[in-house]
Amino acid sequence: MSSNKGRVYAVTGAASGIGRATVERLVDDGASVVAVDLSAEALQWTASDDRIVAVAGDVTSEETNKAMVAAAIESFGSLHGVFLNAGIAGAGLIERAPMEMFDSVMDVNVRAVALGMRAALPRLREVDGGAIVVTGSTSGIGADPGLWTYNASKAAVINMAKSAALDVAHEGIRVNAVCPGPTRTGMTTEMQERDETANTMKNVVPMARWGEASELAAAVSFLLSPDSSFITAVALPVDGGVTANTGQFPTYGSRI
Ligand SMILES: NC(=O)c1ccc[n+]([C@@H]2O[C@H](COP(=O)([O-])OP(=O)(O)OC[C@H]3O[C@@H](n4cnc5c(N)ncnc54)[C@H](O)[C@@H]3O)[C@@H](O)[C@H]2O)c1
Repeated sequence: MSSNKGRVYAVTGAASGIGRATVERLVDDGASVVAVDLSAEALQWTASDDRIVAVAGDVTSEETNKAMVAAAIESFGSLHGVFLNAGIAGAGLIERAPMEMFDSVMDVNVRAVALGMRAALPRLREVDGGAIVVTGSTSGIGADPGLWTYNASKAAVINMAKSAALDVAHEGIRVNAVCPGPTRTGMTTEMQERDETANTMKNVVPMARWGEASELAAAVSFLLSPDSSFITAVALPVDGGVTANTGQFPTYGSRI
């Protein structure tokens, strides 16, 4: 039996990709979930399941984060953990990408996560084993060319998770970051199309393939659950080996 059974979670960016896969995984584990994303239409898929409550709103607003926590309490009576996962990409070279892009990427990928943590923490103190997981990225451990705003935002959110973890560790609340490598979701649709001809994953991922959203969801489910009760302040790569590879030599997958 999963140790998530009977627990209550909230997930942002729940309409698609890693967020949706995590909602599905947590419900399969026996948890109840508040699913947050920009529009009610995009969350329509949750409607037939009474273990999921949808909250439509922009996570960059304090109101949405408060509504997320309130929905957990009103619908399910408590909140054991949040997965602060909503994120946007921002491509462009440092001198060419507009500063407005920098601001919006930071707003969603960093500031909104801070709002989510601040909204959730008072409720997490009321339960045993409260947990927060944020979505970092391999781009926040190293850096990817042409993604400077995104790289900066993901490095920031990883260290924000570690900082928050240190602040609340003595209260028994854990905060961790999951760091996806290239994962097959809506965010990477163009990359996936290019990869059909370029075969990039074979060259850069030691496991020579894309990650699946369900593989991220499995890691998040573990980090939220009491099964990881002594794990806090880590940035866990779920990346098929990408961050371990210096890139100085071709991957074995590309040589065979
Ligand atoms: N897919 C990858 O390869 C990859 C790699 C590393 C990190 N990530 C991170 O994983 C997280 C999830 O992305 P994904 O790959 O599942 O992409 P996705 O585009 O499929 O899902 C992201 C979701 O976040 C929602 N969202 C965006 N801005 C929002 C806002 N302001 N308020 C509420 N919801 C908002 C979107 O509507 C969307 O449903 C992101 O933080 C992303 O940066 C993804």
